Amino acid sequence: MRVADRVAVSPAPAVAGVLRVPGDKSISHRYALLAAIADGPSTIAYYAPGADCASTLACVASLGAIVSRTPGRDAGDPPLVRIEGRGLRGLAAPAGPLDCGNSGSTMRMLSGVLAAHPFLSTLTGDASLSRRPMRRIIGPLTQMGASLTATAGDRPPLTIRGAALQGIHFAPDTPSAQVKSAVLLAGLQASGETVVTEPASTRDHTERALETFGAKVNISGRKIAVRGGQRLTGCPLRVPGDISSAAFLAVAAAALPGSDVTITHVGLNPSRAALLDVLIRFGADIQSSVEEEWNGEPVGRLRIRHAAMRDLVITPDEVPEVIDELPVLATLGTFGGSVTVSGAGELRVKESDRIAELVTGLRAMGADAEERPDGFQIRRGARLTGGTVHAKHDHRLAMAFAIAALGASGPTQIEGADAVAVSYPSFFSDLDALAQPR
Ligand code: S3P
Repeated sequence: MRVADRVAVSPAPAVAGVLRVPGDKSISHRYALLAAIADGPSTIAYYAPGADCASTLACVASLGAIVSRTPGRDAGDPPLVRIEGRGLRGLAAPAGPLDCGNSGSTMRMLSGVLAAHPFLSTLTGDASLSRRPMRRIIGPLTQMGASLTATAGDRPPLTIRGAALQGIHFAPDTPSAQVKSAVLLAGLQASGETVVTEPASTRDHTERALETFGAKVNISGRKIAVRGGQRLTGCPLRVPGDISSAAFLAVAAAALPGSDVTITHVGLNPSRAALLDVLIRFGADIQSSVEEEWNGEPVGRLRIRHAAMRDLVITPDEVPEVIDELPVLATLGTFGGSVTVSGAGELRVKESDRIAELVTGLRAMGADAEERPDGFQIRRGARLTGGTVHAKHDHRLAMAFAIAALGASGPTQIEGADAVAVSYPSFFSDLDALAQPR
Protein backbone atom coordinates (compact mmCIF):
# COMPACT_ATOMS: atom_id res chain seq x y z
CA MET A 1 0.00 0.00 0.00
CA ARG A 2 1.50 3.34 -1.07
CA VAL A 3 0.99 6.24 1.34
CA ALA A 4 1.06 9.86 0.14
CA ASP A 5 3.87 11.90 1.64
CA ARG A 6 1.38 14.59 2.72
CA VAL A 7 -1.85 13.52 4.41
CA ALA A 8 -4.63 15.75 5.79
CA VAL A 9 -6.34 14.59 8.99
CA SER A 10 -9.68 16.13 9.95
CA PRO A 11 -10.94 16.40 13.52
CA ALA A 12 -13.34 13.63 14.58
CA PRO A 13 -15.71 13.56 17.54
CA ALA A 14 -15.11 9.86 18.26
CA VAL A 15 -13.66 6.61 16.93
CA ALA A 16 -15.67 3.41 16.83
CA GLY A 17 -15.56 -0.03 15.23
CA VAL A 18 -13.88 -3.41 15.19
CA LEU A 19 -10.63 -4.08 13.38
CA ARG A 20 -7.45 -6.09 13.23
CA VAL A 21 -4.00 -4.49 13.06
CA PRO A 22 -1.04 -5.82 11.03
CA GLY A 23 1.32 -8.47 12.39
CA ASP A 24 3.76 -7.56 15.14
CA LYS A 25 6.98 -5.99 13.89
CA SER A 26 9.20 -7.20 16.75
CA ILE A 27 7.99 -10.79 16.48
CA SER A 28 8.22 -10.83 12.66
CA HIS A 29 11.91 -9.80 12.72
CA ARG A 30 12.72 -12.55 15.18
CA TYR A 31 10.84 -15.27 13.29
CA ALA A 32 12.60 -14.33 10.04
CA LEU A 33 16.07 -14.35 11.65
CA LEU A 34 15.54 -17.62 13.53
CA ALA A 35 13.95 -19.28 10.49
CA ALA A 36 17.06 -18.37 8.47
CA ILE A 37 19.40 -20.22 10.86
CA ALA A 38 17.02 -23.10 11.59
CA ASP A 39 17.12 -26.53 9.97
CA GLY A 40 14.35 -26.96 7.40
CA PRO A 41 11.60 -24.64 6.24
CA SER A 42 9.43 -22.28 8.28
CA THR A 43 6.24 -20.58 7.19
CA ILE A 44 5.07 -17.30 8.70
CA ALA A 45 1.44 -16.13 8.55
CA TYR A 46 0.57 -12.47 9.18
CA TYR A 47 4.20 -11.41 8.78
CA ALA A 48 4.38 -7.65 9.43
CA PRO A 49 3.71 -5.79 6.16
CA GLY A 50 5.93 -2.76 6.84
CA ALA A 51 9.23 -1.79 5.26
CA ASP A 52 11.25 -2.66 8.41
CA CYS A 53 10.38 -6.34 8.31
CA ALA A 54 10.85 -6.40 4.53
CA SER A 55 14.44 -5.22 5.22
CA THR A 56 15.03 -8.24 7.45
CA LEU A 57 13.70 -10.61 4.79
CA ALA A 58 15.89 -9.00 2.12
CA CYS A 59 18.95 -9.35 4.38
CA VAL A 60 18.40 -13.03 5.17
CA ALA A 61 17.79 -13.67 1.45
CA SER A 62 21.14 -11.98 0.66
CA LEU A 63 22.71 -14.38 3.16
CA GLY A 64 21.45 -17.41 1.28
CA ALA A 65 18.15 -18.25 3.01
CA ILE A 66 15.56 -18.84 0.31
CA VAL A 67 12.59 -16.55 0.96
CA SER A 68 9.34 -16.91 -0.96
CA ARG A 69 5.72 -15.86 -0.64
CA THR A 70 3.09 -18.56 -0.97
CA PRO A 71 -0.70 -18.53 -0.78
CA GLY A 72 -2.27 -20.06 2.36
CA ARG A 73 -3.15 -23.74 2.23
CA ASP A 74 -6.94 -23.27 2.08
CA ALA A 75 -9.10 -20.53 0.56
CA GLY A 76 -9.39 -17.71 3.09
CA ASP A 77 -6.05 -18.55 4.75
CA PRO A 78 -3.53 -15.70 4.86
CA PRO A 79 -0.56 -15.73 2.47
CA LEU A 80 2.66 -17.08 3.98
CA VAL A 81 6.28 -16.04 4.00
CA ARG A 82 8.33 -19.22 3.56
CA ILE A 83 11.97 -19.32 4.63
CA GLU A 84 14.25 -22.22 3.88
CA GLY A 85 16.68 -22.32 6.82
CA ARG A 86 20.45 -22.75 6.35
CA GLY A 87 21.10 -24.26 9.77
CA LEU A 88 23.17 -22.95 12.67
CA ARG A 89 26.16 -20.91 11.39
CA GLY A 90 25.07 -21.93 7.88
CA LEU A 91 24.50 -18.51 6.27
CA ALA A 92 26.54 -17.62 3.18
CA ALA A 93 28.71 -14.52 2.65
CA PRO A 94 26.63 -11.77 1.00
CA ALA A 95 27.61 -10.41 -2.42
CA GLY A 96 27.25 -6.79 -1.28
CA PRO A 97 26.24 -4.59 1.67
CA LEU A 98 23.17 -5.63 3.67
CA ASP A 99 20.69 -2.75 3.61
CA CYS A 100 18.78 -2.54 6.91
CA GLY A 101 16.75 0.47 5.70
CA ASN A 102 15.20 2.32 8.65
CA SER A 103 15.31 -0.69 10.94
CA GLY A 104 17.45 -0.63 14.09
CA SER A 105 16.03 -4.04 15.05
CA THR A 106 17.32 -5.55 11.80
CA MET A 107 20.79 -4.10 12.19
CA ARG A 108 21.25 -4.95 15.85
CA MET A 109 19.72 -8.42 15.91
CA LEU A 110 21.25 -9.48 12.58
CA SER A 111 24.64 -8.45 13.99
CA GLY A 112 24.19 -11.07 16.70
CA VAL A 113 23.56 -13.70 14.02
CA LEU A 114 26.47 -12.59 11.80
CA ALA A 115 28.95 -12.40 14.69
CA ALA A 116 29.23 -16.20 14.52
CA HIS A 117 29.67 -16.43 10.73
CA PRO A 118 33.30 -16.43 9.57
CA PHE A 119 32.94 -13.91 6.74
CA LEU A 120 32.92 -10.17 6.27
CA SER A 121 29.62 -8.33 5.99
CA THR A 122 28.70 -4.65 5.95
CA LEU A 123 25.37 -3.46 7.32
CA THR A 124 24.07 -0.13 6.07
CA GLY A 125 20.95 1.92 6.75
CA ASP A 126 19.10 5.06 5.73
CA ALA A 127 19.99 8.53 7.06
CA SER A 128 18.05 7.96 10.30
CA LEU A 129 19.55 4.53 11.03
CA SER A 130 23.02 5.88 10.18
CA ARG A 131 22.73 8.19 13.20
CA ARG A 132 21.76 5.49 15.70
CA PRO A 133 24.15 4.08 18.32
CA MET A 134 25.67 0.64 17.73
CA ARG A 135 28.37 0.60 20.43
CA ARG A 136 25.83 -1.14 22.65
CA ILE A 137 26.07 -4.28 20.48
CA ILE A 138 29.67 -3.82 19.35
CA GLY A 139 30.84 -4.13 22.99
CA PRO A 140 29.37 -7.53 23.89
CA LEU A 141 29.78 -9.08 20.42
CA THR A 142 33.48 -8.09 20.40
CA GLN A 143 33.85 -9.59 23.86
CA MET A 144 32.45 -12.83 22.46
CA GLY A 145 35.14 -12.92 19.77
CA ALA A 146 33.74 -11.17 16.67
CA SER A 147 35.35 -8.09 15.05
CA LEU A 148 33.04 -5.14 14.49
CA THR A 149 33.85 -1.66 13.25
CA ALA A 150 31.62 1.39 12.88
CA THR A 151 31.97 5.10 12.20
CA ALA A 152 33.51 6.73 15.29
CA GLY A 153 33.15 3.32 16.95
CA ASP A 154 29.39 3.74 17.18
CA ARG A 155 27.46 4.62 14.02
CA PRO A 156 26.55 2.59 10.91
CA PRO A 157 27.72 1.39 8.49
CA LEU A 158 28.75 -1.56 10.59
CA THR A 159 31.35 -4.02 9.36
CA ILE A 160 31.36 -7.46 10.95
CA ARG A 161 33.87 -10.25 10.67
CA GLY A 162 32.40 -13.20 12.47
CA ALA A 163 34.36 -15.84 14.35
CA ALA A 164 34.02 -18.85 16.63
CA LEU A 165 32.39 -17.20 19.64
CA GLN A 166 32.71 -17.74 23.39
CA GLY A 167 29.69 -17.36 25.67
CA ILE A 168 29.74 -14.37 28.03
CA HIS A 169 27.93 -12.99 31.06
CA PHE A 170 26.65 -9.61 30.03
CA ALA A 171 24.83 -6.93 32.01
CA PRO A 172 23.88 -3.99 29.73
CA ASP A 173 23.62 -0.50 31.32
CA THR A 174 20.52 0.42 29.33
CA PRO A 175 17.49 -1.85 29.06
CA SER A 176 17.18 -2.88 25.39
CA ALA A 177 15.42 -5.87 23.90
CA GLN A 178 17.44 -5.48 20.72
CA VAL A 179 20.76 -5.66 22.56
CA LYS A 180 19.58 -8.58 24.71
CA SER A 181 18.45 -10.37 21.56
CA ALA A 182 21.68 -9.74 19.66
CA VAL A 183 23.69 -11.26 22.52
CA LEU A 184 21.34 -14.24 22.92
CA LEU A 185 21.44 -14.94 19.16
CA ALA A 186 25.24 -14.82 19.25
CA GLY A 187 25.16 -16.97 22.42
CA LEU A 188 23.10 -19.63 20.67
CA GLN A 189 25.98 -20.01 18.21
CA ALA A 190 28.81 -19.70 20.77
CA SER A 191 30.57 -22.27 22.90
CA GLY A 192 29.44 -22.53 26.51
CA GLU A 193 26.64 -20.57 28.09
CA THR A 194 25.67 -16.93 27.51
CA VAL A 195 23.83 -15.05 30.24
CA VAL A 196 22.21 -11.62 29.89
CA THR A 197 21.14 -9.83 33.06
CA GLU A 198 18.84 -6.94 32.23
CA PRO A 199 18.70 -3.73 34.30
CA ALA A 200 14.92 -3.71 33.72
CA SER A 201 12.67 -6.16 31.91
CA THR A 202 12.17 -5.67 28.19
CA ARG A 203 10.02 -7.47 25.62
CA ASP A 204 10.72 -11.22 25.74
CA HIS A 205 9.82 -12.26 22.18
CA THR A 206 13.31 -13.63 21.45
CA GLU A 207 13.17 -15.93 24.46
CA ARG A 208 9.71 -17.20 23.46
CA ALA A 209 10.70 -17.57 19.80
CA LEU A 210 13.85 -19.55 20.66
CA GLU A 211 11.68 -21.99 22.63
CA THR A 212 9.26 -22.22 19.70
CA PHE A 213 12.14 -23.23 17.42
CA GLY A 214 13.13 -25.91 19.94
CA ALA A 215 15.95 -24.27 21.95
CA LYS A 216 16.00 -24.29 25.74
CA VAL A 217 16.23 -20.88 27.41
CA ASN A 218 16.66 -20.56 31.18
CA ILE A 219 14.98 -17.53 32.66
CA SER A 220 15.26 -16.52 36.27
CA GLY A 221 13.96 -13.03 36.96
CA ARG A 222 15.93 -10.63 34.78
CA LYS A 223 18.61 -13.22 34.03
CA ILE A 224 18.32 -15.05 30.70
CA ALA A 225 20.67 -17.90 29.82
CA VAL A 226 21.13 -19.83 26.60
CA ARG A 227 23.53 -22.68 25.92
CA GLY A 228 25.42 -22.51 22.64
CA GLY A 229 25.16 -25.09 19.88
CA GLN A 230 21.45 -25.84 20.21
CA ARG A 231 20.04 -26.42 16.74
CA LEU A 232 16.74 -24.83 15.75
CA THR A 233 13.98 -26.60 13.86
CA GLY A 234 11.95 -24.73 11.24
CA CYS A 235 8.22 -24.63 11.98
CA PRO A 236 4.86 -23.06 11.02
CA LEU A 237 4.37 -19.67 12.69
CA ARG A 238 1.61 -17.08 13.09
CA VAL A 239 2.33 -13.48 14.08
CA PRO A 240 -0.16 -11.75 16.44
CA GLY A 241 -1.39 -8.22 15.68
CA ASP A 242 1.05 -5.52 16.78
CA ILE A 243 -0.02 -3.94 20.08
CA SER A 244 2.28 -0.98 19.36
CA SER A 245 0.24 -0.31 16.19
CA ALA A 246 -3.02 -0.89 18.08
CA ALA A 247 -1.79 1.69 20.61
CA PHE A 248 -2.55 4.58 18.22
CA LEU A 249 -6.17 3.54 17.87
CA ALA A 250 -6.44 2.70 21.57
CA VAL A 251 -5.24 6.17 22.54
CA ALA A 252 -7.74 7.77 20.14
CA ALA A 253 -10.52 5.71 21.74
CA ALA A 254 -9.37 6.62 25.27
CA ALA A 255 -9.22 10.31 24.39
CA LEU A 256 -12.41 10.99 22.41
CA PRO A 257 -15.78 10.93 24.29
CA GLY A 258 -18.21 8.31 22.99
CA SER A 259 -15.47 6.16 21.47
CA ASP A 260 -15.63 2.36 21.45
CA VAL A 261 -12.96 0.39 19.56
CA THR A 262 -12.32 -3.36 19.55
CA ILE A 263 -9.09 -4.80 18.19
CA THR A 264 -9.03 -8.54 17.53
CA HIS A 265 -6.14 -11.03 17.18
CA VAL A 266 -3.76 -8.65 18.93
CA GLY A 267 -0.63 -9.75 20.80
CA LEU A 268 -1.13 -9.47 24.56
CA ASN A 269 2.33 -10.49 25.73
CA PRO A 270 2.65 -9.05 29.28
CA SER A 271 6.03 -7.49 28.38
CA ARG A 272 4.22 -5.32 25.83
CA ALA A 273 0.93 -4.70 27.63
CA ALA A 274 2.00 -2.00 30.13
CA LEU A 275 0.30 0.41 27.73
CA LEU A 276 -3.03 -0.91 29.00
CA ASP A 277 -2.17 -0.10 32.62
CA VAL A 278 -1.25 3.43 31.58
CA LEU A 279 -4.52 3.89 29.68
CA ILE A 280 -6.49 2.61 32.68
CA ARG A 281 -4.69 5.14 34.88
CA PHE A 282 -5.64 7.86 32.42
CA GLY A 283 -9.25 6.85 32.92
CA ALA A 284 -10.07 4.65 29.92
CA ASP A 285 -12.37 1.65 30.19
CA ILE A 286 -10.27 -1.28 28.94
CA GLN A 287 -11.22 -4.90 28.54
CA SER A 288 -8.58 -7.32 27.35
CA SER A 289 -8.93 -11.06 27.02
CA VAL A 290 -6.38 -13.62 25.93
CA GLU A 291 -8.19 -16.09 23.70
CA GLU A 292 -5.39 -18.15 22.14
CA GLU A 293 -1.69 -18.80 22.21
CA TRP A 294 0.26 -18.64 18.95
CA ASN A 295 3.79 -20.07 19.14
CA GLY A 296 4.03 -19.22 22.82
CA GLU A 297 2.62 -15.68 22.40
CA PRO A 298 -0.74 -14.77 24.00
CA VAL A 299 -3.25 -13.41 21.48
CA GLY A 300 -6.67 -11.93 22.11
CA ARG A 301 -9.10 -9.08 21.96
CA LEU A 302 -8.89 -5.56 23.27
CA ARG A 303 -11.84 -3.21 23.78
CA ILE A 304 -11.15 0.44 24.58
CA ARG A 305 -13.84 2.92 25.55
CA HIS A 306 -13.53 6.53 26.57
CA ALA A 307 -14.49 7.08 30.21
CA ALA A 308 -12.53 9.68 32.21
CA MET A 309 -9.44 11.80 31.58
CA ARG A 310 -6.91 12.17 34.37
CA ASP A 311 -3.40 13.60 34.59
CA LEU A 312 -0.79 10.98 33.74
CA VAL A 313 2.72 10.62 35.12
CA ILE A 314 4.91 7.98 33.48
CA THR A 315 7.85 7.11 35.72
CA PRO A 316 11.36 5.95 34.67
CA ASP A 317 10.72 2.34 35.74
CA GLU A 318 7.70 2.14 33.42
CA VAL A 319 9.52 3.54 30.39
CA PRO A 320 11.17 0.38 28.93
CA GLU A 321 7.82 -1.38 28.56
CA VAL A 322 6.04 1.55 26.86
CA ILE A 323 9.01 3.01 24.99
CA ASP A 324 7.38 2.75 21.53
CA GLU A 325 4.02 4.02 22.81
CA LEU A 326 5.32 7.22 24.44
CA PRO A 327 4.81 9.44 21.35
CA VAL A 328 1.13 8.53 21.14
CA LEU A 329 0.63 8.54 24.93
CA ALA A 330 1.95 12.12 24.87
CA THR A 331 -1.02 13.14 22.74
CA LEU A 332 -3.37 12.35 25.64
CA GLY A 333 -2.13 15.63 27.11
CA THR A 334 -3.71 17.49 24.19
CA PHE A 335 -7.19 16.08 24.89
CA GLY A 336 -7.71 16.31 28.64
CA GLY A 337 -5.26 15.28 31.34
CA SER A 338 -1.64 16.40 31.26
CA VAL A 339 1.14 13.92 30.48
CA THR A 340 4.54 13.98 32.21
CA VAL A 341 7.31 11.55 31.24
CA SER A 342 10.79 11.20 32.76
CA GLY A 343 13.63 8.70 32.49
CA ALA A 344 13.05 8.37 28.75
CA GLY A 345 16.37 9.66 27.35
CA GLU A 346 16.42 6.62 25.01
CA LEU A 347 13.72 8.37 22.98
CA ARG A 348 16.43 10.71 21.68
CA VAL A 349 18.13 7.84 19.81
CA LYS A 350 15.10 6.27 18.15
CA GLU A 351 14.14 6.79 14.48
CA SER A 352 14.33 10.52 15.28
CA ASP A 353 15.05 12.48 18.45
CA ARG A 354 11.54 11.67 19.64
CA ILE A 355 11.63 14.12 22.54
CA ALA A 356 12.61 17.16 20.46
CA GLU A 357 10.54 16.32 17.37
CA LEU A 358 7.44 15.31 19.32
CA VAL A 359 7.43 18.53 21.33
CA THR A 360 8.15 20.63 18.21
CA GLY A 361 5.35 18.94 16.27
CA LEU A 362 2.72 19.13 19.02
CA ARG A 363 3.58 22.80 19.62
CA ALA A 364 3.15 23.50 15.90
CA MET A 365 -0.38 22.11 16.30
CA GLY A 366 -1.06 24.39 19.28
CA ALA A 367 -0.05 22.28 22.30
CA ASP A 368 1.44 23.58 25.54
CA ALA A 369 4.44 21.24 25.51
CA GLU A 370 7.82 21.35 27.19
CA GLU A 371 10.95 19.41 26.29
CA ARG A 372 13.10 18.03 29.13
CA PRO A 373 16.49 16.30 28.88
CA ASP A 374 14.99 12.86 29.58
CA GLY A 375 11.32 13.37 28.81
CA PHE A 376 8.59 15.92 28.28
CA GLN A 377 5.46 17.47 29.71
CA ILE A 378 2.29 18.12 27.71
CA ARG A 379 0.06 20.41 29.76
CA ARG A 380 -3.69 20.27 29.51
CA GLY A 381 -5.89 23.18 28.62
CA ALA A 382 -4.56 24.18 25.20
CA ARG A 383 -6.99 22.96 22.52
CA LEU A 384 -5.03 22.13 19.39
CA THR A 385 -5.72 24.22 16.31
CA GLY A 386 -4.21 21.86 13.72
CA GLY A 387 -1.98 23.30 11.00
CA THR A 388 1.07 21.76 9.39
CA VAL A 389 3.40 19.35 11.15
CA HIS A 390 6.40 17.32 9.93
CA ALA A 391 6.84 13.65 10.87
CA LYS A 392 10.65 13.91 10.44
CA HIS A 393 10.86 10.51 8.74
CA ASP A 394 9.63 8.82 11.91
CA HIS A 395 6.67 6.43 11.55
CA ARG A 396 5.55 6.70 15.17
CA LEU A 397 5.58 10.50 15.08
CA ALA A 398 3.50 10.53 11.87
CA MET A 399 0.87 8.35 13.54
CA ALA A 400 0.98 10.20 16.89
CA PHE A 401 0.40 13.54 15.14
CA ALA A 402 -2.55 12.01 13.27
CA ILE A 403 -4.12 10.95 16.58
CA ALA A 404 -3.57 14.40 18.09
CA ALA A 405 -5.14 15.90 14.95
CA LEU A 406 -8.45 14.15 15.70
CA GLY A 407 -8.95 16.48 18.68
CA ALA A 408 -7.94 19.74 16.98
CA SER A 409 -10.35 22.52 16.06
CA GLY A 410 -9.20 22.52 12.42
CA PRO A 411 -7.52 20.18 9.93
CA THR A 412 -3.87 19.10 10.20
CA GLN A 413 -1.52 18.49 7.29
CA ILE A 414 1.07 15.83 8.11
CA GLU A 415 4.20 16.16 5.99
CA GLY A 416 6.34 13.04 5.67
CA ALA A 417 3.26 10.91 6.43
CA ASP A 418 4.61 8.16 4.15
CA ALA A 419 6.87 7.15 7.08
CA VAL A 420 3.94 5.05 8.38
CA ALA A 421 4.93 2.46 5.74
CA VAL A 422 7.79 1.44 8.06
CA SER A 423 5.44 -0.35 10.47
CA TYR A 424 1.76 0.21 9.58
CA PRO A 425 1.15 0.88 5.87
CA SER A 426 -2.66 0.78 6.23
CA PHE A 427 -2.71 3.18 9.22
CA PHE A 428 -4.49 6.10 7.54
CA SER A 429 -7.17 3.93 5.95
CA ASP A 430 -7.77 2.08 9.25
CA LEU A 431 -8.06 5.40 11.08
CA ASP A 432 -10.44 6.68 8.42
CA ALA A 433 -12.63 3.63 8.86
CA LEU A 434 -12.91 4.22 12.64
CA ALA A 435 -13.26 8.02 12.67
CA GLN A 436 -16.89 9.04 13.15
CA PRO A 437 -18.37 11.85 11.03
CA ARG A 438 -19.00 15.19 12.68
C1 S3P B 1 12.48 -3.47 19.83
C2 S3P B 1 13.02 -2.96 20.97
C3 S3P B 1 12.99 -1.54 21.31
C4 S3P B 1 11.92 -0.82 20.50
C5 S3P B 1 11.98 -1.14 19.05
C6 S3P B 1 11.78 -2.64 18.84
C7 S3P B 1 12.61 -4.91 19.57
O1 S3P B 1 14.24 -0.96 21.02
O2 S3P B 1 12.01 0.57 20.69
O3 S3P B 1 10.99 -0.45 18.35
O4 S3P B 1 11.93 -5.44 18.66
O5 S3P B 1 13.37 -5.57 20.29
P1 S3P B 1 15.47 -0.99 22.06
O6 S3P B 1 15.90 -2.39 22.23
O7 S3P B 1 16.54 -0.15 21.41
O8 S3P B 1 14.94 -0.37 23.31
